[in-house]
Amino acid sequence: MKSYAMSNGDQMPALGLGTWKSEPGDVYKAVRSALSVGYRHFDCAYIYQNEQEIGAALHDAIMTGEVNREELWITSKLWNTHHGLSDVRECLQITLKALQLEYLDLYLIHWPVAQQKDVIFPEDGSGLISLSEITLEETWRGMEEVLSEKLTRHIGVSNFSTKKIDRVNQTAKHKIEVNQVELHPLLQQKELLEYCNEENIIVTAYSPLGSRDRIAQMKADDEPDLFKIPEIVDIGKEHNCSPAQVLIAWAINRDTVVIPKSTNEARLRQNFEAADIKLSLEEMSQIDQLDKHYRYVTGAFFALPGSDYTVANLWDEE
Ligand code: A2P
Repeated sequence: MKSYAMSNGDQMPALGLGTWKSEPGDVYKAVRSALSVGYRHFDCAYIYQNEQEIGAALHDAIMTGEVNREELWITSKLWNTHHGLSDVRECLQITLKALQLEYLDLYLIHWPVAQQKDVIFPEDGSGLISLSEITLEETWRGMEEVLSEKLTRHIGVSNFSTKKIDRVNQTAKHKIEVNQVELHPLLQQKELLEYCNEENIIVTAYSPLGSRDRIAQMKADDEPDLFKIPEIVDIGKEHNCSPAQVLIAWAINRDTVVIPKSTNEARLRQNFEAADIKLSLEEMSQIDQLDKHYRYVTGAFFALPGSDYTVANLWDEE
């Protein structure tokens, strides 16, 4: 498995199992299957509300000697309710307890959005807190603290624009190591990727398959289907592989980390095997032409009346 070197020499595997939308009841089996297929990287988050079951699967696999902790790469994410300097540790500790781990490999600020502590999903502006009140710099100081306490080996962000990364890094003692964002052929984010490469930030691609299993309220009626893009289908035929495998191979061929989600054993095996597919320069440039700057995860759920969050200022795109 290809991996990327962090500044301390740790290697982040290029492919991980996404666990957003993996239901409790399914995710234990998915994680055990993934481990037996060879996955060593698992992408988790407090807000996915399934970390306890993932923890049970990791624990059982470690106890049976199938894998040891040092071979695993476990990422999790700070929820928006815990952006205050003294709250970061609390959220991380809930995650560590659920995952039955002593430390994470990577902890990310999930969104550049702060919420009231008792509001898990805001329904109106009163559940949100302005970034001028709890600043991203303050949250990052909390992240630096848990890093120095060795509760995580690395720290980073998710859903951050170049502008927000730059703002945090200006005052950071420990610079951002990873940015996890939505990436697929219809949202290639070339400038963001270039910027992150220059700043030695590893980029992780989420929703690489278009996250078709999102709840209806999060989906647009006329959403494009990545699996039906003719160029993707044709490249798949050329390699005797599925469109999903082409999408995963594309992400790894352009040197990003990718975290496709599946709870189905055959599909998660197929996704794992896609890491070895080499696309030609011509195929890469064909896919390069498909960019439409199309987001499946728009962030509109944070652009609530009565708050100062908008879709435009979330992504810093006017
Ligand atoms: P399932 O979990 O039943 O396999 P994303 O990673 O972009 O969030 O996409 C996840 C969605 O893609 C889920 O609905 C998942 O379903 C589906 N999926 C994952 N792998 C494949 C695959 N190889 N072929 C088709 N669909 C897939």
